[in-house]
Amino acid sequence: MKGIILSGGYGTRLLPLTKVTSKQLLPVYDKPMIMYPLEILLKAGIKDILIIVAPDHAGDYLRLLGSGKEFGVRFAYEIQDKPEGLATAFLIGENFIDDDNVTMILGDNIFEDDVAGTIRNFKSGGHIFAKEVPDPERFGVVKFDDQMNAMKIEEKPKEHLSNYAITGLYIYDSRVVEAAKQAKPSARGELEITELHNWYLAKQELKVDILKGEWIDAGTFETLFRASELKRKKSQISNK
Ligand code: G1P
Repeated sequence: MKGIILSGGYGTRLLPLTKVTSKQLLPVYDKPMIMYPLEILLKAGIKDILIIVAPDHAGDYLRLLGSGKEFGVRFAYEIQDKPEGLATAFLIGENFIDDDNVTMILGDNIFEDDVAGTIRNFKSGGHIFAKEVPDPERFGVVKFDDQMNAMKIEEKPKEHLSNYAITGLYIYDSRVVEAAKQAKPSARGELEITELHNWYLAKQELKVDILKGEWIDAGTFETLFRASELKRKKSQISNK
């Protein structure tokens, strides 16, 4: 299993915080944001991790994370020149992924669940994670049937589909590169990760689990603040 942390984008919704640094390097309580998704990959025992960053602050990531030796793993770095969609990570990472399975996590997503076992036990296909949220239209959304099998997935649906958002943690086999090559840009001009979920869904090879703990996409002032609150609460509990 390989790992990818996608840490691109301009973070425009967080200006002026992101004028001089990258969104995923901003503090979430006691650490730069990206450390949290990194910890999830480390906990799953992943040893090869590709960190995809925007060009402006690439040096800061290298200073923060280095070679990976400190964490007992290897880091590789790639630049995403323009934020042209999450699915482009698998094109940028094609050589890195090679014939292996890959877990991708977004550098601004904070998870409470322990998914290490799921990542370790993954065999093939696609495995993604949904969470019930009050504002599903901000995300990719999944509709389930009565048996909680995924029926339909849409990126930022205009009509209400369900309250289940697809979170920024994706486990795929190496065919994801092929799927990304077939994807066409959406109306917002991006290669959507939702197309990749649908590629696996059409083959009946997509598993969608529901997360029990909190999940935060920390890309707005409100959610960035909530992410810090969550991590502060967690650290107080573990210090007791
Ligand atoms: C992206 C994905 C979306 C997913 C979300 C999770 O949205 O396209 O499917 O639900 O991340 O954070 P974006 O942040 O690009 O709007």
